[in-house]
Amino acid sequence: MIIIGCGTSWHAGLVAEYLFEDLARIPVEVEYASEFRYRNPIIRETDVIIALSQSGETADTLAAIELAREKGALVYGVVNVVGSSISRLTDAGSYIHAGPEIGVASTKAFTGQVTLLTMMALQLAHSRGTISASYYQRLLTELENIPHKVERVLACEPQIEYIAKEIQDSHNALYLGRGFNFPVALEGALKLKEISYIHAEGYPAAEMKHGPIALIDENMPVIVTATNRNAYDKIVSNIQEVKARKGKVIAIVAEGEKTISEMADYTIEIPETEDPLAPLLSVIPLQLLSYYIAVGRGCNVDQPRNLAKSVTVE
Ligand code: AGP
Repeated sequence: MIIIGCGTSWHAGLVAEYLFEDLARIPVEVEYASEFRYRNPIIRETDVIIALSQSGETADTLAAIELAREKGALVYGVVNVVGSSISRLTDAGSYIHAGPEIGVASTKAFTGQVTLLTMMALQLAHSRGTISASYYQRLLTELENIPHKVERVLACEPQIEYIAKEIQDSHNALYLGRGFNFPVALEGALKLKEISYIHAEGYPAAEMKHGPIALIDENMPVIVTATNRNAYDKIVSNIQEVKARKGKVIAIVAEGEKTISEMADYTIEIPETEDPLAPLLSVIPLQLLSYYIAVGRGCNVDQPRNLAKSVTVE
């Protein structure tokens, strides 16, 4: 499978890579549509290309789809806007039906895309027999619990607003995550850049020591999405590395977590869930954090400068 998209849609594609490979054992490549279309990619007739787009009108994604179809691959669209160009150009597809997304910064489309891709991964895993029947059932039941848990994440809003005020004058921010939470870190950084104009970077937490660690000082907020059950100890040691350099740690942790909460400067507790479903919950505090930072800085969160809702030019 090759997943293509731009911006937030590309981040949803990265989550899908983890899901399809982990659950359904299908090898996946995730490509920026703009790179894919110009780099003479290897596309086979047996490949399935999944094109992700909220608007269904993104020029680079459209051109990448045309290329994939010329090479004979099956193209499956995951789109929000009904009747959009991408929905008409693809061989098959699903709408996420998230409703009109008005703000330029994509939020509910990310949730819709990740939910749909999770359901696809689960169905594939079930029919290919790559996960046990009991794990499949557990993930399905947990997926049904997600809306209720999202409401509990939203209840953290006052605390997120408080943290936003504490860090809104920063010039830079670093977002870290591991496994399923790595694409979430990228998405958190994108949201902050887009609407608050603060420079932010997302990184896999373990990559920090290969460069970004040089940036850390007492003025650097480091937002760590640390809800993983897998690799928990590794995340703890990544946070220790940040604290040793006086970085300001804002940690997103599972409810009741103690070790990280004691080390972090600020903690946001969200309900526990299965690792493959974590992005559906962990992205929300990051979106809210960007929102309150932008509001605090007097930025127009719905219509950020230099950005368009649909990027219909190259
Ligand atoms: C997300 O907040 C952005 N505004 C942007 O990155 C967007 O996701 C990208 O332009 C892709 O748009 P699409 O999903 O409509 O194709």
